Order: sequence, then C-alpha cells, then structure tokens
Amino acid sequence: MAVPREAIRNRVFELMGVSDSRPLRITTNPEIHRILKPKEGAFDEPGARNAAVRSFDYPLTQAGDLSRLPIEFQNEWFSRKEIDEILFHDPKILRLERKTGAPGFLNLIRDAREHALLLRSGKAYSEEWKTLPPEHIQKGVVAKAGEVPTKANEFNAERVAAELVGQADRGVRPVLFDVGTGGGGTLLPIIQRIAKQNPETLKRLKIAFLDVMPAGVEHVKKELAKLGVGEEQMVPMVLNFMDLAGVEGFEATLEQGEKAARNDALKELEKLRGKVTVITSGAAVHHVSDVTPMFAAFNRLLSRDGKVIMWDWGHHRTQAPQLRLSEMHRAVEGVTEGIAPKQRDTVVAMANTWMSLLGYSRHAQEKVLKKMQEYERKGKPFDFQKLLATSRVQLESFKTARLNRAYNEQSPVALFHEGHRPPILYKDAMQRAGLVVEHVKYPLVTRQTKPTDTENLLYFIEARKK
Ligand SMILES: C[S@@+](CC[C@H](N)C(=O)[O-])C[C@H]1O[C@@H](n2cnc3c(N)ncnc32)[C@H](O)[C@@H]1O
Repeated sequence: MAVPREAIRNRVFELMGVSDSRPLRITTNPEIHRILKPKEGAFDEPGARNAAVRSFDYPLTQAGDLSRLPIEFQNEWFSRKEIDEILFHDPKILRLERKTGAPGFLNLIRDAREHALLLRSGKAYSEEWKTLPPEHIQKGVVAKAGEVPTKANEFNAERVAAELVGQADRGVRPVLFDVGTGGGGTLLPIIQRIAKQNPETLKRLKIAFLDVMPAGVEHVKKELAKLGVGEEQMVPMVLNFMDLAGVEGFEATLEQGEKAARNDALKELEKLRGKVTVITSGAAVHHVSDVTPMFAAFNRLLSRDGKVIMWDWGHHRTQAPQLRLSEMHRAVEGVTEGIAPKQRDTVVAMANTWMSLLGYSRHAQEKVLKKMQEYERKGKPFDFQKLLATSRVQLESFKTARLNRAYNEQSPVALFHEGHRPPILYKDAMQRAGLVVEHVKYPLVTRQTKPTDTENLLYFIEARKK
C-alpha cells in the first residue's frame, strides 16, 4: 500500500501545534508542548495574565519556545528523540503504520517533525508579539527604532547607500530589500543618507521592506514618505520569515485576517525574484531557527550582481547550558577582516547588554560581571541565563516586583532564549545556500574596545550571488 505521506505529515503537524492558528499551548500535544515550552506560564498570575511580561515593551522576557533557538544549538536544550517517542506512539500514527507497514515510515515522521519545528518557530514568534498590547509595541518598539544600536545601523547605512549609489551610477536600477524592518532602525538611516547626498538615486530607488509586525511596516511607510519616497517606490510586506523562506504550510498557522495580507505580500515578493540589487538586514535574521532556507530565498531574490549587506548580534554560545570562559580565549571564528573579539569577550558583552535591556542597576551589573570573572579564574563552568536571572543583586534591581517573583519562583532557565549565532554559522549557511561570502568583520571593534562593550557583538557580512 502506498505510504500516506500527507496523512502522516498532517498528524505530525497537529501534534506539534502547527496545523491551526490557535495558541500553541492549546494546539500542541501537551507532552510535546512541555518539552518545547517548559516555562509556559512562568509569568502568569491569576487574574493578570502576562501582566509581568507586559511591563516590558519588547518580548524579551518571554518564556521562550525552544523551537526558536538556532537549529545548531537546539539539541542541547530539548531531545528530538523524546518528541519522536511521543509521535511514534500516537494512536493515529500507529494505525497509519499498521495499515502500510511501509519501510521508511520512521523517516517520514522525522522529516515531518523537522518541518513542523521550523513552522513552530515562526508561529511561536508571532504569538509572542501578539501578547504585547499595541500601545507598548508603538511606544517601546516602533517609536524607538534605531536607538539600539545606532552605531551598527549607521555603519550599515554607509555601506548600503554607497552600493546603491554605485549601482545607479552604473545604470542599474537599484532595488533595496530590508528584511525584518521593525520600526525602520536599519532602513531609515540608509534612505536619509541617500536623500541627502544623492537625491537622483533616491528617485530611481525601489524599496521593499518586510516584517511580521504590521505597526512597524505602517510606521516605515510614513517615515519614508516624509523623506520624499513615493508610494509607487515602496513594496511593504507584512510577512513572516517562514513565508519569505518558502517554508511550506505556514498559512495554516495564520488567523483569517492575516491570510489576505499574506497572499498580497507573497505576490509582491514573487515579483521581486531576481530583481533585488541589495538585501539588507539589521539584528533580525537571528530570529530564524534555520537560516539556510532563508539565505536560499535571498539568493533567489537577488539580481545577477546583487549583494547582501547585513549585520547581526553574535556571541559565543551563551545559549549553551554550561559555559567555561577560561576555555574561550580564542578569537571568534570566520572573521575575514579587522579585529575579531575573543569568544569570552562576546559572552561578557552579551551579559552586559542583557542586563541593560532588563534594567539592572549599574551596581548589579558589576556584581554579575565579577562573578563571571571568578568562574573564569577558577576554570569553573556556569549557566549564563541562570547566573543573570538568579543573582541576588538582580532581585534588588529588577523593574517590577512581579517580575522578580516570576524569576524567583520558577527555574529561570530558558526565560529569554533569543538565538544569536557567531558569524561562522551564517557564513556556512550562506555558502550552503549558494551565496559567495565576501567579508565578515566586526568593524566597530578597535584596540580600545573593552570586553564589556556591545561593539564586540556586532558583526557585518557581505555576500553576493554566485
Ligand atoms: C531587533 S528588530 C530589528 C529591527 C530593525 N532592523 C532595527 O535595526 O531597528 C528584529 C525585527 O525582526 C522581526 N522578526 C522577527 N522574527 C520574525 C519573523 N519570524 N517574521 C518576520 N519578522 C520577524 C521583528 O518583528 C523585529 O521587527
């Protein structure tokens, strides 16, 4: 009997929570949900759902879904074998297996599970945004776009603007695409620069921008109009990275209203295929668990001489369950130009950055950093997130008492899982996706940069179509 591929896939998607738009905690098999979102409810209080999370403007404090971690690190945090055990023992799947007895059945389930994990990472991210009230998104994210870290966006703007102006001078019609535009922190400085220095290029420029957050896309449209960009020059797209990457099946996770916007955006995206002359992105690609399909999409979108000029945060494995700073004195791998920070410096800088974002006092920050140095001196391993979340000083300095309690009462691990990769992982994925990597650098790191400085985290990659 033929293998009922589709039936298997559909059932695995159901069990993994990605076959409809309702929240993951409702749609996922409860055992699988516990594996993938072990801290669901960490911030809940009776009568005040998500109140603690909402006291922040950005979903930094979410009890994150582990599917969102970089695929390269996931196995340290959850066991695919455990998930598969549950899938293999599902009565419906067992019935399908009995019916067919097909060899390769287990592989079909594993493939469907991997596919579902990717879809889940996209759904989990959208879901986390939706827990924030619109006024917080507007005030805390959209309006603040570009404040952190301005230096990286400024550096990026200089490079991207130069490339676009050069293309226009060579008679190429420049088409820019900003991936993960947010409130425009990356895109607007590029356009401001061109508007000021090369107004002729601006007139010929087509500007595509994409984000899953509609408020950000609307804001960017208005800001571009203020800079003199005509509506016909803009291609705004409210779309999830999963759709950009062409991961099949994402539509099922969307609500009715979102589906129409998605269809329009997909049509626009299709029109850009082979036409984009520069793809840029700032601090956004790290949200994707598997970047290879996304970079393959970049490759499809780029014109023959098209370029990727992007930057992101990177640090050395702060997502690992255990870190040993004493063994991390090598330079970050894969850097082709300039100074590469030491791996341990990226960890220290990341700790400092998280603490600033979460509102630790200066005194509290210093205490945590001292503790890290102590571990390093003694050659002892530590859990980065636990250290940040449980240190006593942090309890004094956190913004709200409610949040303190949420951290205190729950085991803190995996409270703020955002995946940031060191550059070598982007470089490898780009090469797998058929792009040619030209430069990898930390242009903001100088001999004067201190280990705690955010500059140690900000790297730039330039690549081109083969
Ligand atoms: C840190 S912000 C960076 C925004 C902007 N580039 C800047 O520098 O200000 C990351 C952006 O990526 C978007 N993003 C993250 N995951 C996404 C996904 N799965 N699909 C679409 N957009 C996503 C977020 O909504 C957010 O606006």
